[in-house]
Amino acid sequence: MAGEGRPRTLFPMCGIVGYVGQKQALEIVVAGLRRLEYRGYDSAGVAVISDGELIVRKKAGKLANLETLLGSDPMPDSTTGIGHTRWATHGGPTDSNAHPHVSENGQVAVIHNGIIENFSELRDELTSAGVTLTSETDTEVVAHLLAAALPESDGDLAEAMRRTCRRLEGAFTLVAVDRRNPDLVVAARRNSPLVVGVGVGENFLASDVAAFVDHTRDALELGQDQVVAMTAASVVITDFAGEVVEATPFHVDWDTAAAEKGGYDLFMLKEIAEQPKAVADSLRGRISKDHRIQLDETHLDEGILRSINKVVVIACGTAAYAGMVAKYAIEHWTRLPVEVELASEFRYRDPIVGPDSLVIAISQSGETMDTLMALRHAKSQGARTLAICNTVGSTIPRESDAVLYTYAGPEIAVASTKAFLTQIIAAYLVGLYLAQVRGTMFEDEIRAVLQDLNDMPSKVDLVLDTTEPVRELARELSGSASVLFLGRHVGYPVALEGALKLKELAYMHAEGFAAGELKHGPIALIEEGVPVVVIVPSPRGRAVLHDKIVSNIQEVRARGALVVAIAEEGDEMIANYADHVIRIPAVPTLMQPLVAIVPLQIFACEMALAKGHDVDQPRNLAKSVTVE
Ligand code: G6P
Repeated sequence: MAGEGRPRTLFPMCGIVGYVGQKQALEIVVAGLRRLEYRGYDSAGVAVISDGELIVRKKAGKLANLETLLGSDPMPDSTTGIGHTRWATHGGPTDSNAHPHVSENGQVAVIHNGIIENFSELRDELTSAGVTLTSETDTEVVAHLLAAALPESDGDLAEAMRRTCRRLEGAFTLVAVDRRNPDLVVAARRNSPLVVGVGVGENFLASDVAAFVDHTRDALELGQDQVVAMTAASVVITDFAGEVVEATPFHVDWDTAAAEKGGYDLFMLKEIAEQPKAVADSLRGRISKDHRIQLDETHLDEGILRSINKVVVIACGTAAYAGMVAKYAIEHWTRLPVEVELASEFRYRDPIVGPDSLVIAISQSGETMDTLMALRHAKSQGARTLAICNTVGSTIPRESDAVLYTYAGPEIAVASTKAFLTQIIAAYLVGLYLAQVRGTMFEDEIRAVLQDLNDMPSKVDLVLDTTEPVRELARELSGSASVLFLGRHVGYPVALEGALKLKELAYMHAEGFAAGELKHGPIALIEEGVPVVVIVPSPRGRAVLHDKIVSNIQEVRARGALVVAIAEEGDEMIANYADHVIRIPAVPTLMQPLVAIVPLQIFACEMALAKGHDVDQPRNLAKSVTVE
């Protein structure tokens, strides 16, 4: 077999926590890891320093497995610790591949998020020097290099980290502890997320502020190629050459409760319920009293907005579907062509982008590597870049010319819900702003759309008031082998997103189609009893869309499909064509995705529950995918 006998490369994505202070490090680290499990949950591990000893515990599987191990094999008291939760893209998640990795001499422990691209050369070098590697990971190489760099750095761990980093290629966040420096945690960052939490008499490091927001809301953004040396009383940041650099402070504006389940059984249910607030928060402050869009915070230059001749949206997964929805609106309002490209495909097709293009990167996490790489490519071509992002201080907004934050609050469940709605809202605001600046809409037209947007929180609330019919239907259909989703116009990306939710959560074959495309092939999939969920456009809007979808419903019904219509209140006619009708409030066409997706989220969630799946942490997935 090709590749047999060669070490498999493990490219972890992962969540990282570091603590140094006065409290029990282990408790803080494990609690932080729980908040970061969305980043991966294939294995978890911790290291603490106690009485000059470096002690490590690690275990394959979810964090709960590590906690069980810690119960049966407790760690001693310590005020310095690091922890890791892993998501592997290659190779099996095993105890020995779990982080932390310890140097052969037992002096340093390292955790890592990212890819050391030149790890096989480094590994060969270490092996020829007589070092025995005990895992298949690239990370272990760093542990040995770091230990080797310590003597030549006069025992200074930060200097040893800088020396080591200068030898590494790839993307990485590294965090290390050294048993001879018991009150110190050192970390390095290149192309991978890392934030510092600044406390009083204690400091924190993490992939995401969620890990330490219980303890402090004051944080520092780390730049590219920086090393941070952290004690209980100090945080010193340098570049890889050792020059001290200033970090940008920021304040986390959401609190602990926002990252907890808040009385819900599942983060996903909580996040679905938070959608009206997330939408309202994302609109707040962006519409002036005289009904104009004000996006001064984004630093979008009006001159540039006037000069661009196209918009390109780059995003992945749910964010890409939000971009597809926005395309309909932005083209309609601005008459600018809008392309939506999956970020992972963008730079490989030599896209036509330049100074006349506005490239909008949409990302909940702000760390998705595919999106980041597409953004960098767009920048290298001279494009103007704008991030729509939910995570303050993350890499994608930092590297964009301008940023419009969504205010969804922390989204923890892996399957995205409230981020989708707020991404649509933000992209709509950008579209309206473009229309305002370029004069492609009259003021009263903009005002009318803004009124529609302002109405959306209460409309989404209405959907949430009556979820039982859709939940019951999900339970009823949970034995289906496959579910198809059909939509037209803005209902098409909603169909794609509805199918994605079902795949992610119910592990079920699900596909979304443009309803008109079905007859060109996919209709062959229809057989007796196959559920087909149809997002029905309003009969009041462009009536032609409604008529056409009714024809599409008839086509599938004639072939035995069980039709579930997602249709607005008052569309009585649809009941004649559908086996089940799930009602959503009547809203203007471009607003419909914001209400139509909600029952589909609930449908997927309930289906997963009926099948006994882990809704918040579906198999094989991770929330923030920082590998390409
Ligand atoms: C992952 C998640 C998806 C998400 C996508 C984009 O695949 O599982 O839910 O839509 O990444 O994430 P982003 O953070 O860039 O919006």
